[in-house]
Amino acid sequence: MSDKPKHQLFATRLGVIAATVGSAVGLGNIWRFPYEAGVHGGGAFLVIYVFFIVLLGIPVLCAEFALGRSTHCNVLGCFRHLKPGQPFWKIIGVIGVTSGMMILSFYSVIAGWTLEYFVVSLKGEVAGNSTEELHSLFGDFTAGLRPVMWTVVFLLINYCVIVRGVRKGVEKASNLLTPALMILLAVFCVNSLTMPGAADGLSFLFKPDFSQITPGVVIGAMGQAFFSLSLGLGCMLTYASYFPDRTPLVRSAAVTVGLDVLTAVMAGVLIFPVVFTYGFSPQEGPTLVFEVLPAIFAQVSGGWFWAPLFFFMLFLASLTSTISMSEIGIAWLTQDRGMSRGKACVLVIAVAMVCGVACALSFGYWSGLSLPVIGEFNIFNFFDYTSSNVLLPLGGMLISIFAGWMLDRNILRRELTTPRTALSSLAPAIVFLLRYVSPVMILVIFIANL
Ligand code: PFF
Repeated sequence: MSDKPKHQLFATRLGVIAATVGSAVGLGNIWRFPYEAGVHGGGAFLVIYVFFIVLLGIPVLCAEFALGRSTHCNVLGCFRHLKPGQPFWKIIGVIGVTSGMMILSFYSVIAGWTLEYFVVSLKGEVAGNSTEELHSLFGDFTAGLRPVMWTVVFLLINYCVIVRGVRKGVEKASNLLTPALMILLAVFCVNSLTMPGAADGLSFLFKPDFSQITPGVVIGAMGQAFFSLSLGLGCMLTYASYFPDRTPLVRSAAVTVGLDVLTAVMAGVLIFPVVFTYGFSPQEGPTLVFEVLPAIFAQVSGGWFWAPLFFFMLFLASLTSTISMSEIGIAWLTQDRGMSRGKACVLVIAVAMVCGVACALSFGYWSGLSLPVIGEFNIFNFFDYTSSNVLLPLGGMLISIFAGWMLDRNILRRELTTPRTALSSLAPAIVFLLRYVSPVMILVIFIANL
C-alpha cells in the first residue's frame, strides 16, 4: 500500500473542466433544484441557495481541489498522507465513501426514470396527451416494477463506462454533453416564457418572500448547494487528484460554480411557468419534474422529437454525475485496498444496486414503508435527506476545518495560486472563508436545526 499512487491524469484542460462540470451539472440542477425550491417557497430558497454557493460552495470546492491535487490521493489516502498518525481525519473519507454510495443508489432511480421517459416518448406516448393522461402514465409507472428494472439498467450502463478507466471513460463522455444540454435548456426556457403562467412562475422563483424562511428551508438550501456542486464527500477531491499541475484551481472552480448555478436557474425558469400554467402544485416533491416536463412536450410542436432528445440528454447528464460519485469508492478500493479496477467497479455497482432497488420501490410497493428510526421518511427520502442535508454539510465542515487550520498554509496557497491567473488573487479571501466563515456557519445551522 503506497500513499502516493502512480496517478492517472486528465489529458487536457477541457477534459478537467468537462469532468468537473459534468459531475456538478446533472439531476441535482434539473430535477432536485426545482422540487426543493418548490417545496421551500421558491424565491426565498433561491436567495439562500445562492448565498451558500458563494460563502460555502466556492471555498469548499477550492479546498477539495487543493487537497486532491496536492496529494494525488483518494479521499481516505489524502488525509492519511497529509496527517500521518492522526486517524481522526479518516472520518472525512468514511463520510465521503458512505454518502457517495447512498447518493449513487437513489440518484440511479431518478436516472432510471429518464430512461423510461426516453423510451416512452420515443414510442410517441407523450406528445398530444392531456395532463391527466400524463399523470396516470407516471403513476402507473412508479407503482410497478419498471423503475426497478431501469435502476438496474442504468447502473449497468454506469458500470460499462467506469470500468474503462478515468481518461477514456470520463473524459470522452463529458466533452460534448454539458454544453449541448444547456443549449437545449435555453431553448425550452424561451418556450416556457411564452406561457400564460410565465409571470406567476417567474415571480414564484425570483421574488423572495422572506416570511417563508424556516430552519427547514435553510438546511434544504445548504444541502442543495453541496449536492449540486458534488461537494463535501470528496468527489471533487478525487477528481482533482487526476488534475495536472498546470490546472488553475480557482478559475476551474469559478467556471464549475457559474455553469452549475446557471443550469439550476434555467431549470427553474423552464419548470415554474409550466407549473402555474397547468395548475400543478409547486410543492409536489421529487416527482414534480417528471409530471411537468412531459406536459411541456405534449404541447409543443415537434414534441415527438424534443421529448426523447431532452430525456436522453438528461440521462447523459446523470451519467457524468454518477461516474464521478462511483469514482470516490473506486479510487479508495484500488489505491488503498489493492483491488483491481474491475473488481472495485463490480463491488460499487453491486452495493448501489441493492440499495437502489430499495429506493426504487419507495414510490410503489414500499411507499407506505417508513422505518421507525427514520420517522416519516420512506427509504428514498431517507437516503436523499441524510446524505444531502446531513452528511455532505458535515463533510464540508470538516474539509474546511482541515484545509483552513490543519493543512500547511503554504500548500494551500501554492495550490490556489499556481499557475497564476487573474482569479489567484482571491486566494486570501478563500482561505479566510475556510477558516472563519464556512465551518462556523455550518455548525450554527446544524445546532439551530436541532
Ligand atoms: N452534483 C450532481 C448533480 O447536481 O446532479 C450530484 C452529485 C454528483 C452529488 C456527485 C454528489 C457527487 F459526488
